[in-house]
Amino acid sequence: MVSALLPPFIKDRLACGDKFYIYTPSGNSALLFAKENGINSITHLSEIDNVDTIWLGMKPQQLLDVSTVINALNLDCTKTATYVSLLAGVSSATISESFLSSKVIRVMPNTPSKVGFGVSAIWSTPTVTNELLDSLEIGLSQTGKSFILNDESDIDTITPYSGSGPAYFFEIARHMSNDLSKRGFSPDVSKEVIALTMKGAAEMMLQSSESSQTLRDNVTSKGGVTFEALKVFEEKGLGIIIEEALKAAHKRTMELKGDKK
Ligand SMILES: NC(=O)c1ccc[n+]([C@@H]2O[C@H](COP(=O)([O-])OP(=O)(O)OC[C@H]3O[C@@H](n4cnc5c(N)ncnc54)[C@H](OP(=O)(O)O)[C@@H]3O)[C@@H](O)[C@H]2O)c1
Repeated sequence: MVSALLPPFIKDRLACGDKFYIYTPSGNSALLFAKENGINSITHLSEIDNVDTIWLGMKPQQLLDVSTVINALNLDCTKTATYVSLLAGVSSATISESFLSSKVIRVMPNTPSKVGFGVSAIWSTPTVTNELLDSLEIGLSQTGKSFILNDESDIDTITPYSGSGPAYFFEIARHMSNDLSKRGFSPDVSKEVIALTMKGAAEMMLQSSESSQTLRDNVTSKGGVTFEALKVFEEKGLGIIIEEALKAAHKRTMELKGDKK
């Protein structure tokens, strides 16, 4: 996610004279990222010096490892720094407690940020400066669209939709393109046909003032081809399956949040 999200922000801030360092335990991905973005990679967190913003892009379960190492450095700057966390299901209170800093920004991105069509939800503690929030929003807008949220709980609410959402569409695409391949189309053409169909439908949703239900009805004539497929969706309870899947994802978000407390 870091390599999808940060490059435009880094480019803007480098132009303003900021400095960036990247660290990962293996070093390989950090080295590559540093090279691609004209910044420095460090081999140990003890090399950080005078930082004012720390981005957290590891997995939520690696939070304790990272905070233990950073706190052991015993630097004043890590206690006054703003922490920008990409970690799903980890509250600002947990980040604050972990790093002894009151300044936290939570960003819930998604993988289409890699191709400029991401959705990022942003929430911050009131202690974060407007200048940092503004430059973050400008940077993230180059990877897609950002939504500033008023309540921290909205980050957890939106996670199963925008954060996990791309996986649901990939799963639907996988079934549809496999089915088309079974009927004689090559896997490459099948993938392209389904991806472009999804992209076109999404673009219509964005450009039209009609609801998705009306757009669906516009493709469906009674007794026609689409009608037959939608009838099966309804008979098999597609709506219920989607509701249950989202409920399970919400439950897991809240469990992960509890785990990190
Ligand atoms: N993927 C998504 O769709 C998505 C969506 C929304 C939010 N998120 C959040 O984004 C975060 C990253 O997810 P991801 O999918 O990008 O994971 P990822 O590809 O596995 O990347 C995690 C990175 O963290 C580094 N790392 C591991 N331990 C570390 C440590 N102790 N200190 C510093 N860096 C460490 C890893 O370094 P190495 O390269 O050395 O292994 C790796 O580069 C997660 O917290 C996740 O909740 C992900």
